[in-house]
Amino acid sequence: MKLSIIILAAGLGKRMRSEQPKVLHQLADKPLIRHVVNAALTLKPDNINIVYGYKGEQVRKAIIDTHINWIEQAQQLGTGHAVAQVMPKIADDALVLVLCGDVPLISPTTLQTLCSQADANSLGLLTVELDNPQGYGRVIRNAQGQVERIVEEKDANANQKKIREVNAGVYSIPATHLRRWLALLNNDNAQGEYYLTDIIALAAQENLPIHTTQTDNSYEVMGVNDRTQLATLERYYQTQQVNRLMLAGVTVLDPTRLDIRGTVQTGHDVSIDVNVILEGEIILGDRVKIGPHTVIRNAKIGDDVEILSHSVIDDVVIGAGCCIGPFARLRPGTLLAEKVKIGNFVEMKKSKVDHGSKISHLSYIGDSEVGSDVNIGAGTITCNYDGANKYKTIIEDRVFIGSDTQLVAPVTVGAGSTIGAGSTITKNTPPDALTLTRTRQETIVGWQRPRKKS
Ligand code: UD1
Ligand code: CA
Repeated sequence: MKLSIIILAAGLGKRMRSEQPKVLHQLADKPLIRHVVNAALTLKPDNINIVYGYKGEQVRKAIIDTHINWIEQAQQLGTGHAVAQVMPKIADDALVLVLCGDVPLISPTTLQTLCSQADANSLGLLTVELDNPQGYGRVIRNAQGQVERIVEEKDANANQKKIREVNAGVYSIPATHLRRWLALLNNDNAQGEYYLTDIIALAAQENLPIHTTQTDNSYEVMGVNDRTQLATLERYYQTQQVNRLMLAGVTVLDPTRLDIRGTVQTGHDVSIDVNVILEGEIILGDRVKIGPHTVIRNAKIGDDVEILSHSVIDDVVIGAGCCIGPFARLRPGTLLAEKVKIGNFVEMKKSKVDHGSKISHLSYIGDSEVGSDVNIGAGTITCNYDGANKYKTIIEDRVFIGSDTQLVAPVTVGAGSTIGAGSTITKNTPPDALTLTRTRQETIVGWQRPRKKS
């Protein structure tokens, strides 16, 4: 059978109390629906169809995969109505897998099991037993244990509410039957909606086998309806990510104080201190040490690098043996060769530094190329911007720049040259010479400080 996936994402998400569509709220830095689409893609379906509605244009902009069919559900009349909007696009010989855009942690393996159990004349239903089933549709079984129907929380009587097996909102259903059952739905229920869940009763009446797949991981099927649930899933997801890292051999000083919002590859004996956030794609070499209160996004960090506390690192490549921070800020386009030292309160942007160079204190280095074995003194600033355009500063090998120097770009500091402290360098400097722009120090003997007028 062909596989068609439908992702329901038209709902308003009232309980989020947000101006943003619910499915765009983020889990680990990605919209909820992105997680669902990623899980869907692992099944290599013939097509993926997303039902959108409330502020749908925003949802479409967030998910730009080319092979997705977007179907508008202008009025949100219920999950059954939502699926019905897609059916004209679905072939008769397809198996339809229905997913919810607000159930982000559904696992590809569970979906595979669910699909493998359904065929042209049977369907699959994903259920889970919850200690607190409140809010979910309950799975009603007959005396033989066969599924009879699903009752929504709002339509359930006191006895039904005690049932702990709930509907996860994920189904695999053959298209021909689904099409027929959808036409039979009504909205005669507590919410006045066309419930997709009512097709289960229709299938049972026709004696079509309903295969239930039970997952014992309740987080996998947990829907995000409000922000407390979003936070619960975020914490669960983070625990999983951090555990994986520790099992791969990383020392994490406090697993509850590391957040991973992307992918992390690690070498041997990496160590990560508390309150660290890793975002995007990160590669950490052997023995990398990350200090506390550090944020790193999209970085490739070589062996034996030490990042000291309170550093913010974004889109950079750091060579082996470098030492960064504390309080360093490395902005996009920073490329450091081996054994470079970037100290406290140094900001760098779009700059290359060759091996062994040191920028130890209080500097701004932007749009620059720094050679090897350079020493840049405290408070050195590259003046790369004239208010309209940006220019480059080139600092060649073995340069020594005295403290509190401004390098007004475009400018080249020649190899081996020394710049006297407090200089403002506006012209290229010759190699191996001392250049300085200070006036000579003088002393006025007997000079009096001004006095306050009486
Ligand atoms: C639904 C199920 C419930 C199940 C739960 C699992 C129904 C009637 N109930 O309840 O049995 O336990 O999911 O999480 O299906 N949506 C649309 N258009 C609509 C209405 C909803 O696209 O007209 C989308 C929502 O955006 C959401 C999904 O369908 O992604 C589920 O809708 P929601 O209102 O959250 O249903 P639940 O009350 O959670
Ligand atoms: Ca829901």
